[in-house]
Amino acid sequence: MEEYYLGWLNQLEDGLKHWSDWSISGVFRGIIVAGMGGSGIVGDYLSALSLVNGGLPVITVKHYMVPGFVGSSDLAVVISYSGNTLETRLFYESVRKRGAAVVVVSSDGLLEEYARRDNVLFLPVVKGIAPRTALPHMLYRILGLLDSSGISIVSRDKAKRAYDFLTGVMEEATDKAYDIASFIHENKGLLILATHSPLEPLAWRVKNEFNENSKIPVKVEAAPEWMHNDIVGWEKPYENKYTAILVSDPSDRVGSRLVDYMEKIYKENSIPTYRLLLKGETLLEKLLYGSLVFGLASVRLARIRGLDPLKTTSIVEYKKVVDSIFK
Ligand code: F6R
Repeated sequence: MEEYYLGWLNQLEDGLKHWSDWSISGVFRGIIVAGMGGSGIVGDYLSALSLVNGGLPVITVKHYMVPGFVGSSDLAVVISYSGNTLETRLFYESVRKRGAAVVVVSSDGLLEEYARRDNVLFLPVVKGIAPRTALPHMLYRILGLLDSSGISIVSRDKAKRAYDFLTGVMEEATDKAYDIASFIHENKGLLILATHSPLEPLAWRVKNEFNENSKIPVKVEAAPEWMHNDIVGWEKPYENKYTAILVSDPSDRVGSRLVDYMEKIYKENSIPTYRLLLKGETLLEKLLYGSLVFGLASVRLARIRGLDPLKTTSIVEYKKVVDSIFK
């Protein structure tokens, strides 16, 4: 599975090569991105990038219900790597009835069929890998589409710079990943992933990676909201074992200080801590760097534990019964 992560440069390269291959016309009020798990996280990344870079509002939906306000002036991006996820397919059917402009991003499956049947714009992504490892490809497909449609969140130039940046840190990211995996395995306990705004999507992504690849539960804590609830929970926690990974952006002075504050409280609770300082100039570069380091770390941790990082048995089991649950 490591090779899927090490293949991210190829995914970005292909994203850049086909950056302007698709576009959609129209004046949009907002963008709704629908998807689950490794596909849905792309919506969170787009949302954070738009927030910081100043694009259209991006709302991510990780279920099957279309928000009440969505209508014909919105763009709906429906992402499912497999193309078969029921929640996402239900969203697709409902959002079309609302009259929104729709784009499907997928590698295969029923959603590809629906898109072709309904004459809906279809963006193909690399086939035959685990959905979560296709993150850069799905992200660049959509960023390219938006940029070519005059509603840019990230320009091609910045996307190219992010590719160059990632090329230069591949080796260092692998070393960091090994360090992090050993740290978690040595300390064990419930893993806490702590960060500061606007990096919440990265923390959710990292949580998902340790869930799916390493098969452990993870708790996400993000400042400054942390200072208004979680912090009180650390006054009298039950006697459980915890391990904390803290992620901060060194160019964000306030964010870094907030994470220092969190670290102090964790240490007072005798929680072992590891701090990762994100590399990169832009938010896109930081998100890609963090995703790569922790993706590799989660695979490494699975290997140390003697587990297959690729297998997600419980998701497969859920997908076998999901139709009967939704019927
Ligand atoms: C598996 C993974 C999952 C899937 C999720 C939705 O690698 O990452 O979180 O992404 O079960 O499936 P897709 O992405 O096919 O719609």
